[in-house]
This record gives sequence, C-alpha cells and structure tokens, in this order.
Amino acid sequence: MSTPYDTCRDALHKKPKRWLITGTAGFIGSNLLEHLLKLDQTVVGLDNFSTGKQSNLDEVRSLVTAQQWQRFNFIEGDVRNLPTCQASCRGIDYVLHQGALGSVPRSIADPIASTENNVNGTLNMLVAARDNKIKRFVYASSSSVYGDHPALPKVEEHIGNPLSPYAVSKFVNELHAAQFALHYGLECIGLRYFNVFGPRQDPNGAYAAVIPKWIAAMIKGESVKINGTGETSRDFCYVENVVQANILAATVVNSAAVNQIYNVALNDRTTLCQLFANIRDLLAGEYAHLAEFKPVYGDFRTGDVMHSQADIGKVSQLLGYEPAHTIKQGLASAIEWYKFNLI
Ligand SMILES: NC(=O)c1ccc[n+]([C@@H]2O[C@H](COP(=O)([O-])OP(=O)(O)OC[C@H]3O[C@@H](n4cnc5c(N)ncnc54)[C@H](O)[C@@H]3O)[C@@H](O)[C@H]2O)c1
Repeated sequence: MSTPYDTCRDALHKKPKRWLITGTAGFIGSNLLEHLLKLDQTVVGLDNFSTGKQSNLDEVRSLVTAQQWQRFNFIEGDVRNLPTCQASCRGIDYVLHQGALGSVPRSIADPIASTENNVNGTLNMLVAARDNKIKRFVYASSSSVYGDHPALPKVEEHIGNPLSPYAVSKFVNELHAAQFALHYGLECIGLRYFNVFGPRQDPNGAYAAVIPKWIAAMIKGESVKINGTGETSRDFCYVENVVQANILAATVVNSAAVNQIYNVALNDRTTLCQLFANIRDLLAGEYAHLAEFKPVYGDFRTGDVMHSQADIGKVSQLLGYEPAHTIKQGLASAIEWYKFNLI
C-alpha cells in the first residue's frame, strides 16, 4: 500500500517544483538536495560554508545523473545578508531553511554568533520569502525548544524554559514565523528535529554530534567519552525520516496542517549506554579491537536536557509522516557511510 510520502513523491515527479535549500552544503541540507534532485526537482542551494563542505555537494553530484545535477544552482552566500536572501528566493516555490549554527555548547561559547546566524538569518529569510511570494516556508527548529519542561514524550504545545542560546534562537524562529503567517499570510511550517544522524554528518571538531563522533572514534580505536552516567536519553532520528518530513511539510494541502510546528523523530528513546553498545555491536564483527571496548565517563554537559523523546502523533496525523527507518537500521546505514568516508 502506498504511503502519503509515496503519493507526494509521485506528484512531484510528475510536476516538478523549484526549491531553495539554505544550509545545502551541510549534513541535512545535502541529504535534502540529494533526494530532491533524484526526484527531478529544480533546486537552488545557499550556503556560506561556515560548517558545510564542498565535499558534501561533490558527493551529491556523484549520486545523481548529470541531467539532475544541471537542475541545481549553488549560491555561495550568507543568510545574514538580506539582498542575498532576496536573490536566492527569486522564482522559488518552496523554501527549506536549514542554514544555521547548530550545537548547544557552541551557542554557550558564542551566543552572539548563534543569534546573528540563527535569529537574524532566519528573519532575513522570512522577509525574502514574503517578498518573493514563496508558496511555503519550511524551517528547521529543534527539540531544544522544550528546554526544562519535564513531560515525556514531548508534545508540541508544552514547552519549558530554554536552556541555551541555541534553544532561544530556535524558539525565536518559531515566534517570528508565526508573525509572518499572521501579518503577511506567509505559509510557514516549523519542524522540531530531535538528534538527527546519518551520512555526511561531520564527525570532527569540538561541536560534533555524538553518533558520528563515536562511530569515527570506534573505527579509529580512539577513546569514547560519555558525558554523565550514560542514562541520558535521546530520540535519535535517521536523516531520511527528516527528509520525508520536509517534503511532506512543503507540499501538504490540508490548510489545518499549515502554520504549525511539528516534532520530527521516532517516539523512541535510547540511552547513551545503549547507543554505545549498539554502535560497538554493529562494528565489532569487522573491527576486532572493539570486542572488549569500554567508554570513559565525564561530566554532564551544561545546557543539555536529561531525557528527550518526541510524541509524533501530530506530524503523523496532519502531515502523514511515517518514519521508515528505525534507529538500528539508520545506524547500520550511517556506519556503512563512515567506513568509506572517514578522514
Ligand atoms: N543535526 C541535528 O540533530 C539537528 C537537530 C535539531 C535541529 N537541527 C537544525 O537543522 C539544521 C541543519 O543542521 P545540520 O545538522 O545539517 O548542521 P550543519 O552544520 O551540517 O548544516 C548547517 C549548514 O548551514 C550553513 N550555514 C550556517 N550559517 C549560515 C549562514 N549564515 N548563511 C548560510 N549558510 C549558513 C553551514 O555552512 C552548513 O552547511 C540547522 O538549522 C540545525 O539547527 C539539526
């Protein structure tokens, strides 16, 4: 039986649209690019390469046909620059706004950079989307918006106090988007991603996410540090589920589904200890040094929440989202990628 996502992809394939992806040289942006080009869509990408990489774009090029790649136009530029945003939005149907500085600790270290890139950058993109009469503005929010609210699973309307400048920036994005819907009729959908992982996520640097960092460390035989006791839990979500949510959000026709915010995850919860064991078990068959491999423990990181798990009832009901990849399937696919792409 075909899913709402199958139906939506068939429709796009028959009648291609013009998309703008900001942050297209990054992890999630380049996965969106790959999927949209494979559906024969026309795509403009905007990125300033602050954390994104040319190699991500090169890899997408190697995965699509020459004809599909010709439908891609890349603009090296910054969402903090309004004229650049205006130029990027020209002639576009749907915007998928991913460009931002991620990471809670990075935002604590440099709150001004997080605010300038994430708050001012998104405001510029909203203005440009409004002025260019964009059909739908889909943007990346974050589970960090739930802050210190204790309830599990997380339901969209119950949020607590933000615990980092990053969380503040994503919450302000949601508030600004609501203003653009209210005053200018811009159709906006915010997607609160929960700990996304998959191919092309950067394993290097001080702000790397836990899954790529650990996979890389285990393959290289380096130590793996768990911050806290290891009972911290997350709703880890494979990137293809996030791609699905974006494409459904951009194209959904039900007006009740528009100008909403949705959780995007699995409604599953994995502790850091379980995650460590899962990754080690998936790698141990091939890397003998991992048979007795143990983590080291460090301090709990400030700004982090203890537990996170998404209620996905709203996104399933209103967008027809059906996550197709479990965490174990996702980890297996991600590991395949890292085995051949680690430097
Ligand atoms: N990865 C996750 O688990 C996760 C979770 C919640 C939310 N998000 C959000 O999803 C989006 C994509 O994250 P990602 O994991 O792919 O990160 P990423 O760092 O791989 O990608 C972000 C991209 O945005 C670009 N960028 C940053 N500032 C820019 C600017 N001022 N102008 C133009 N481009 C700019 C970077 O160069 C990079 O290519 C971000 O908005 C992030 O906050 C990610």
